Amino acid sequence: MFSLPNRNRIKMKLVLIYFLIFGFYHVNTEMVVHSLDSFRAAVYEHDVIFPADRTKIVSRDEALKVMMENLMVYSKQTSLASLNEAQMIVFPEYGLYGLVWTRETVAPYLEYIPDPNVEMWNPCNEPSVYNSTEVQHVLSCIAKNNSLYVVANMGARQPCKISDPKCPVDHQYQYSTNVVYGPNGDFVARYFKFNLYSDEKQFDKPERVDLTTFDTPFGRFGTFSSLDIMYHDPAITLIEKMNITNIAYPTAWVDELPLLSAIEFHSAIAEGMNINLLAANLHLPSAGYHGSGLYWSLGTAIDAAYYYNDSLSSSGSLVVQTLDPLFSRPTGGNIKRLSAIYDSFTSNKTYEIKINGDIYSAVLVQVPHDELNICQGDLCCSGFYDTYLEPGELFAFGAFDGMHTEGERYYLQACVFIKCANNTLESCGSPTKVSSSYMGKMAFSGNFTTKYVFPEVLTSENGVPGLMTKIWYYMGDLIIDAGLNGATLSISLIGRDYSRDNLA
Ligand SMILES: *[C@@H]1O[C@H](CO)[C@@H](O)[C@H](O)[C@H]1NC(C)=O
Ligand SMILES: *[C@@H]1O[C@H](CO)[C@@H](O)[C@H](O)[C@H]1NC(C)=O
Ligand SMILES: *[C@@H]1O[C@H](CO)[C@@H](O)[C@H](O)[C@H]1NC(C)=O
Ligand SMILES: *[C@@H]1O[C@H](CO)[C@@H](O)[C@H](O)[C@H]1NC(C)=O
Ligand SMILES: *[C@@H]1O[C@H](CO)[C@@H](O)[C@H](O)[C@H]1NC(C)=O
Ligand SMILES: *[C@@H]1O[C@H](CO)[C@@H](O)[C@H](O)[C@H]1NC(C)=O
Ligand SMILES: *[C@@H]1O[C@H](CO)[C@@H](O)[C@H](O)[C@H]1NC(C)=O
Repeated sequence: MFSLPNRNRIKMKLVLIYFLIFGFYHVNTEMVVHSLDSFRAAVYEHDVIFPADRTKIVSRDEALKVMMENLMVYSKQTSLASLNEAQMIVFPEYGLYGLVWTRETVAPYLEYIPDPNVEMWNPCNEPSVYNSTEVQHVLSCIAKNNSLYVVANMGARQPCKISDPKCPVDHQYQYSTNVVYGPNGDFVARYFKFNLYSDEKQFDKPERVDLTTFDTPFGRFGTFSSLDIMYHDPAITLIEKMNITNIAYPTAWVDELPLLSAIEFHSAIAEGMNINLLAANLHLPSAGYHGSGLYWSLGTAIDAAYYYNDSLSSSGSLVVQTLDPLFSRPTGGNIKRLSAIYDSFTSNKTYEIKINGDIYSAVLVQVPHDELNICQGDLCCSGFYDTYLEPGELFAFGAFDGMHTEGERYYLQACVFIKCANNTLESCGSPTKVSSSYMGKMAFSGNFTTKYVFPEVLTSENGVPGLMTKIWYYMGDLIIDAGLNGATLSISLIGRDYSRDNLA
């Protein structure tokens, strides 16, 4: 028996892993299974026209006036999408009246929204079945006029009986609601938002979670909105139990670097869950809301068509893209997982860095190639990298295992390789869009306690963040073997252990 010093043991393992990865990953590329025709879909990042005054209670007519102005933009963009042969268009959350409300001030903007599973309704053809449903009427006509699916978000007011002990004092539940219309204007799906941000006090949380799906000739869709994507329900249940391959996702998402930029996190979910995600965000860069796209999983890789522009003079934008309705993952064949290399070895020089309020354990990355090892709690992150390192640029490799508590609560496990904002330790974890260091080869993984691990790669070109799709992701291992043609901002694995969300 003899034992090698830690470092040499790791190097030997890395050589072995390198062979395993780059020897075998390529064998398994013929994984695309088409079972339906491809389809074209659009998302519109909307620069919402705000009501003049959101602090006083306006009349229904005043509320309608501003919602109709926004709907005219929707109508115009839908006809452009239709000319571009889109079969579906998704609009953002809060796109009809903007953000920041109280229960009372938002009330005039809401409509009673019936349950489409109970009664067939085509609001364009039958506008007067229900009172005060002008918004639904116009959305349905936009779908019908352009012969495509329209997915939008609006507010619902659902009357309740005083005998219902939970019925609010104003005798109605108020829900943030996604509505879906078919190409003939039929109302096909309704979803009441389940996971509300702490500042969405104007809306009620529905008692039970909606698992809303709708079938199209190009596959089955689910729908939910913004914060829902962070939690198990409805998102994971829809995808795993309801045979969903596509999600229509109206959102109002603050682009939060380095780990929660909209395009970065939403593409990671699409890849990690193996779905198509159609994400439409508000365009409000002055408040941080922007970043929309269509993200699709290729099994072990990701691809995307997206819009990222946070310049204050930029405007909304339409993104149209052809998608395949269904993919299946490769079986994996003889790919060995990286997990073989976990080791309790960690460099003595570990630091604490703060990302999005969470304190990570981290090592600094200051040489062009090395192994990577860092542990926190039960999580160890290991691998290696080989990069061009721009002189003066600093990176950190960090691990986090714990409850995220800033803003919203959720149990997070993450292995992150991030560009520091400048060359000081204190700047690691602060937002930056600037990098000139290009990754050549890299592979890492973590021994997460969850299978829900989402791979993110955010790059920078001339100071503008973007997605890089030349990565491999297989059962938790993130691999870059052909280099990235954008400089590195973040290459990370974001794990969510939903089973621990309710821990104290
Ligand atoms: C619509 O409003 C009118 C006048 O307020 C009322 O009489 C009628 O019952 C309402 N109809 C429905 C379907 O709510
Ligand atoms: C739908 O088309 C009809 C007939 O061309 C037009 O009058 C109406 O304004 C259109 N509605 C919408 C919402 O686009
Ligand atoms: C999902 O698809 C499988 C296989 O096609 C089928 O057996 C199952 O019933 C479907 N489940 C739902 C909820 O549609
Ligand atoms: C963002 O929008 C501004 C204003 O329209 C434009 O000048 C700029 O080129 C855009 N940036 C990118 C990266 O597209
Ligand atoms: C991850 O690996 C480390 C080091 O071997 C070990 O201490 C830890 O218990 C492992 N965590 C899990 C969840 O297996
Ligand atoms: C860590 O520190 C210990 C004690 O100072 C030392 O013996 C060991 O070699 C160091 N390990 C590394 C990897 O630097
Ligand atoms: C480095 O960045 C940090 C945080 O982003 C900032 O507080 C600090 O002033 C910067 N230091 C230098 C030397 O630029």
